[in-house]
Amino acid sequence: MAVITTRKEGDLLIVTSDNPPVNALGQAVRAGLTGAIEEAAQDDDVKAVVIRCEGRTFFAGADITEFGKPPLDPWLPEVVNTIEASAKPVVAAIHGTALGGGLEVALGCHYRIAVPSAKLGLPEVKLGILPGAGGTQRLPRIVGVSDALQMIVTGDPIAAKKAADIGLVDRLADENALDADAIAFASDIISNASHPKTSERTDKIAADAKNPGLFEDFKKNNAKRLRGFEAPAACIEAVRAAVELPFEDGVKKERELFTKLVSGDQSKALRHVFFAERAASKIDDIPADTPVIPINKVGVLGAGTMGGGISMNFLSAGIPVTIVEREEAALERGVGIIRKNYERTAARGRMTQKQVDKAMSLLTPTLSYDDVADCDLVIEAVFEDMDVKKDVFNTLDAIVKDGAILATNTSYLNVDEIAAVTKRPEAVIGLHFFSPANIMKLLEIVRGEKTSAPVLKTAMALAKKIKKVAVVAGVCFGFIGNRMLRQRQDQAQVLLLEGAKPWDVDRVLTEFGLPMGPFQMADLAGLDLGWNKETSKSATIREVLCERDRRGQKTGKGFYDYDENRRGSPSKEVEDIIAEFAAKSGNEQRDISDQEILERLLYPMVNEGAKILEEGKAQRASDIDIVWLNGYGWPAYTGGPMFWADMIGLQTIVDGLEKHADRLGADFEISKFLKDKAAKGETFN
Ligand code: 3HC
Ligand code: NAI
Repeated sequence: MAVITTRKEGDLLIVTSDNPPVNALGQAVRAGLTGAIEEAAQDDDVKAVVIRCEGRTFFAGADITEFGKPPLDPWLPEVVNTIEASAKPVVAAIHGTALGGGLEVALGCHYRIAVPSAKLGLPEVKLGILPGAGGTQRLPRIVGVSDALQMIVTGDPIAAKKAADIGLVDRLADENALDADAIAFASDIISNASHPKTSERTDKIAADAKNPGLFEDFKKNNAKRLRGFEAPAACIEAVRAAVELPFEDGVKKERELFTKLVSGDQSKALRHVFFAERAASKIDDIPADTPVIPINKVGVLGAGTMGGGISMNFLSAGIPVTIVEREEAALERGVGIIRKNYERTAARGRMTQKQVDKAMSLLTPTLSYDDVADCDLVIEAVFEDMDVKKDVFNTLDAIVKDGAILATNTSYLNVDEIAAVTKRPEAVIGLHFFSPANIMKLLEIVRGEKTSAPVLKTAMALAKKIKKVAVVAGVCFGFIGNRMLRQRQDQAQVLLLEGAKPWDVDRVLTEFGLPMGPFQMADLAGLDLGWNKETSKSATIREVLCERDRRGQKTGKGFYDYDENRRGSPSKEVEDIIAEFAAKSGNEQRDISDQEILERLLYPMVNEGAKILEEGKAQRASDIDIVWLNGYGWPAYTGGPMFWADMIGLQTIVDGLEKHADRLGADFEISKFLKDKAAKGETFN
């Protein structure tokens, strides 16, 4: 069936797109739209046109799968121009999401009507590009520079109500009667003396032209979130062109910037991320008809750092939580922190007091394990100690109802070993949240040897409900993320002894785009985690730092010296401590280039990623990328560690590892899987 169909209703031509799943504007849709506008032009009975979509959404954008391939006629910018040039007014009837090219089509229409639940946005920047069908020129002409910058540069969509407030939507339709309301609206506007062409409007930008500071202010206010990305600056430049140039020249500028970005590495990487995010939610060997277990009540064991954060995810999603501690004081402290976190969110205006009260009312604190007996899911977040965990699972197995899921939040321990103490290993799974668990997006779902398909599928569905990005990992030390992190941490320590300074190591990684280096991270977390004054023997750099009360940011010094604003600066004392250790270990300190630091830190991670794939501990290379993007702040514009390796070439990684082989440690081995792929000229993705 044709993806675009037309039908007459009175003096209206109703144009319908039916291109599941999201009405992406592929070639057939574009050609169909052009044809429909021509049809309307040639039919004297037609007085106005309504463009609407079947299925779950209005056009959600250009067809991303066409990017990077030879362009197919008609181009989207031409289609939008054709719509705008139509002598007969065109109304966009919007439901679901009008995104990217979809919103650009709507901007080419003379009028827009939307249901209240609709969202409108130009998310191209998230794909490393900018709106390329006139969006950067038309949107500011309708809503002004300030709102246009916000939408185009952040890529975040806005709700229909807000769109109506700023003039982007002309009328809000009844939620359940879009078609009828769109027809009524189109009939109303037929008699208007003229129909607005967005490209000809100047009222909003004329006002903004008098305030050129808008652009600089926007850049300044958003500097942090835009760091390292190429597309946002291009978006700003394009919107500036809308203010400073005639429409045709502005469009040329937009095209120039679009063409450059779309063929660049950042856009390739960000497109990879888009599809990787969607792939991560798919589990290849689970039948589609696998049932999902309803989760209406959750138990959490341990009200410490993780237990509290984990609970908040469910409370915020409206799912009651029973939280268990060993002692009243710990329970009170844990619940107090949850409340304080919610109240801080409310103080920042991101939650109402009513929502805080609602979330807290769903929380039941208790000292008795018996209270989790009727939970559908119990998540253990007690100390990281195998004996303690076994004990806890043994108890849970005896108490918790049949059919419930028993999960552990362990960071490193063997989930199969934990499952083996229960009589229901098929119900046991790892749910590895990242700290702070109420904020970090990533959830590693650890699939035990015996974990059943319904349990796994339920965990995936639940992750979506609590707005986490879930990745399935197999049982191994540290799963995907921490297993790779360990490689980087080990090399960072060795590099110090060879002569690199902590601040050089950190700088190389932050310049690469990571939010923090290992020594900044250690100072933030506290160097004394797991350190004991009584047993400390000055055996490691870390021990010596703790002994000298350099225990991180909280004591004002660690690897760095901190000022009152917690800004770190290099420390001579630390340099001396490192030099002493180097001398003792027989390491000659040398100058180490930034490039070597980068290779030594990141290539072993890629190598570990290859081993994870080789052992089947991750389903696909892109899942590893998703872990690092969402759990460790890996810069999205490089696509994640595995995609980054693909881009620089796997042979480059192998060559680098071979070059540094003598320094990588006696146990270090290059993955055979990586070597084979490199030799064949293949990539991970
Ligand atoms: N092109 C091609 N495929 C797309 C697509 C697009 N624009 N948008 C979504 N899809 C695919 C997804 O890959 C997925 O495929 P799969 O089922 O095989 O995995 C399927 O459609 C469903 O997508 P989601 O799983 O994301 O469905 P949701 O219902 O959760 O979300 C959505 C729907 C909000 C529309 C979301 O898909 C989305 O944000 N899409 C991308 C929007 C976007 O970035 N548009 C701009 C494109 S660039 C552009 O328009 C350039 C122009 O300026 C010239
Ligand atoms: P924590 O020490 O802050 O909290 C543990 C809590 O469990 C304490 O409040 C303790 O009183 C309580 N507890 C201990 N035994 C108990 C029992 N038998 N019954 C009920 N409560 C008990 O520890 P944290 O950091 O929250 O870690 C918990 C788990 O989460 C560990 O397995 C850890 O490896 C894992 N994890 C920790 C992360 C982190 O960054 N802190 C990140 C991801 C996982």
